[in-house]
Amino acid sequence: MLKRLKNWFKKPLSIREEQLQAENIPEHVAIIMDGNGRWAKSRGLPRIAGHHSGMKAVKRITMAADRLGIKYLTLYAFSTENWKRPKAEVDFLMRLPQEFLAIELEDLIKNNVQVRMMGYKEGLPDYTLQAIDEAVEKTRHNTGLVLNFALNYGSRMEVIDAVRAIAEEVKAGRLESAAISEQSLDGYLLSKNIPDPDLLIRTSGELRISNFMLWQLAYSELWFTDVYWPEFMDEHFYEAIREYQRRARRYGGL
Ligand code: FPP
Repeated sequence: MLKRLKNWFKKPLSIREEQLQAENIPEHVAIIMDGNGRWAKSRGLPRIAGHHSGMKAVKRITMAADRLGIKYLTLYAFSTENWKRPKAEVDFLMRLPQEFLAIELEDLIKNNVQVRMMGYKEGLPDYTLQAIDEAVEKTRHNTGLVLNFALNYGSRMEVIDAVRAIAEEVKAGRLESAAISEQSLDGYLLSKNIPDPDLLIRTSGELRISNFMLWQLAYSELWFTDVYWPEFMDEHFYEAIREYQRRARRYGGL
C-alpha cells in the first residue's frame, strides 16, 4: 500500500494506485510525450491546442509521480530536431515553459519539487530560459521529486559532446584513455547527476526512441501506449508502472 500523502493529494487512492507495490516504484521515469498534434486534429483543433492540452497533462503526471514517490521524472518537451517545425508552432512551444511555470511554480515549490533542465541553452529564446532559470533557482534546495525538462535536447549530440570533452582531457594528459569508463562518460552527459531511467514511456502508438537518452536507456524498461499525451491520465501512468513491476530486470544476467 502506498502511504505517502501529499498536500496536493485531495482524492482518496484509486484502486489502481493502491494496486501498485510501494516497494518497487521506479526511481526514474522518462516520458516521450507524443501525440499532441494528432489529438488536436482528431478534435478539429489547431496543433497548438494539442500542445496546450499536453501542458495540463504535464501537471497531472507530475502530481501523480510525486504522490507515488518517484524520485526523477524526465519529460521530453522539445528535441533538437523540433526546430524543423513551422515557426509559429516552435514559438508556441517555446512559450509553454513560461506559461506553465507562471501557473505552477508556486505549487511546485510548496510541494518540494526540484525543477531541472536537460538540454542545450543556446538557441532558446530569453523568455524561455528566464522562466526555466527562475524555476531551477527557486527550487534548487527542494528535496522531493526532480522534474527534469528535456528541452532542446538531442542524445547523439550529447554523446558527441561528451566524447569531445573526454578527448580533450586525454589530449591534455589529465586522463588515460584506458581509464575511460561508463561512469566517466556519464559525467560528461547532459544527464549527469541523474540516474538512468528505470522506465521509459512513449505515448501515441509510435514505437521509436527518437534520439532520446540513447546511452541512458540501455537497460530501461520500455512501455508504449496508443493513448495521445493530452489524454494520458493517472490511470495510464499506473498501468505503466504496474507493468514495470511485473517485469524481471536482469541487466544481461539470468
Ligand atoms: C510531440 O507531439 C510533442 C511535442 C513535440 C511537444 C511536447 C510538449 C508538451 C507536451 C508540453 C510541454 C509543456 C511544458 C511545460 C514544457 P507531436 O506534436 O509530435 O504530436 P503528433 O505526432 O501527433 O503530431
